[in-house]
Amino acid sequence: MPLVEGSLEASAKAALDPDVWHYVNRGAGGDVSVDEATAAWRRYRFRPRVLRDVRRVETDLDLFGHWRTPIGIAPSAFHRLYTPDGELATAAAALACGAPMVLSSRTTTRLEEVAAVINGPWWFQVYVMREPSITAATVRRARDAGASALVLTGDTPYVGYVPPTGTARPLPLTDELALANVAEHLPAAGVDDIWELIDQDAGITTDTIGWLANESGLPVIVKGILRGDEAVRCVEAGASGVWVSNHGGRQLDRALPTAQALPDVVNAIAGQVPVIVDGGIRCGADALAALALGASAVFLGRPVIWGLATDGQAGAERVVAAVTDQLRHAMGLAGAVDLAGLDPSLVLRVSAG
Ligand code: FNR
Repeated sequence: MPLVEGSLEASAKAALDPDVWHYVNRGAGGDVSVDEATAAWRRYRFRPRVLRDVRRVETDLDLFGHWRTPIGIAPSAFHRLYTPDGELATAAAALACGAPMVLSSRTTTRLEEVAAVINGPWWFQVYVMREPSITAATVRRARDAGASALVLTGDTPYVGYVPPTGTARPLPLTDELALANVAEHLPAAGVDDIWELIDQDAGITTDTIGWLANESGLPVIVKGILRGDEAVRCVEAGASGVWVSNHGGRQLDRALPTAQALPDVVNAIAGQVPVIVDGGIRCGADALAALALGASAVFLGRPVIWGLATDGQAGAERVVAAVTDQLRHAMGLAGAVDLAGLDPSLVLRVSAG
């Protein structure tokens, strides 16, 4: 039983404008990384423990906040493309599930409004913009609005190449929505290089980790890590966590599936900081494999968007709740009563075929 049924993806496709659907589901280049992501988790097999009294199985997690589930909502841009309430619907779903939510820098709602819905900790994703004062001001606003961590996306010095659709129409997004979170930091109307100012700065380095920590006083997690040595480099530069991700296959096509990259990163980090993972996780068994391999939390990207597109807040909530229920169910069958009871001996990678 897949936790996020194929029918959800089909309903989302039916509900969305075809160009928006393409924007959400396609990856970069030839889609190799997108296509491999989920299959890579399904190569793992479990070695369950037995006779363990699993009447109560808990999924609670402490990770820059207290959560009732290790299944989080990955940052993704422009939620008003999917449902009229946009990020407010996503935030209400996160609150209902007790799930960590990461709000994208590219939000269609001011971060303060989103924070007011969550009314507790949440994390803010950072793209450092070419005008750094905009990013500095935004991360301070995030801190003041209750963010408990920053997630610096490291794999996007610029946006990956996605072959256009036949229509090649721009996304149906007004400037007002696209700029909702940064409008107050932009120069007065009439400046025609606004998009330049808020584009990603391709020149950032690991120095940015310390800069963000300094500006905000918040722990900084680096997202987009696929190698143990790069994870260590980020921790040495001050990262408080690393997030294994290939950006849902949207940046460097043929980047390694996260299911394959995770063990290397966990080994290299050796418990110094938490390791988080996303990419192709579609059900509780995928999540169980990731958590057993050493991830502290797993995040869902597209499945939450499919939920939003299908049924707004309720749709996103059902996705996170279903994957959490599936995880809890699978944990008990594997003989684990809490997240601390998961370890790499529970999984074995089998070869394809
Ligand atoms: C993303 N992702 C993303 N990541 C990020 O750091 N900032 C962002 O603004 C976005 N925007 C975004 C938009 C859309 C439409 C998608 C699908 C993804 C990447 C996201 O956080 C995550 O890494 C992947 O989506 C995880 O893979 P799955 O779960 O989609 O397979």
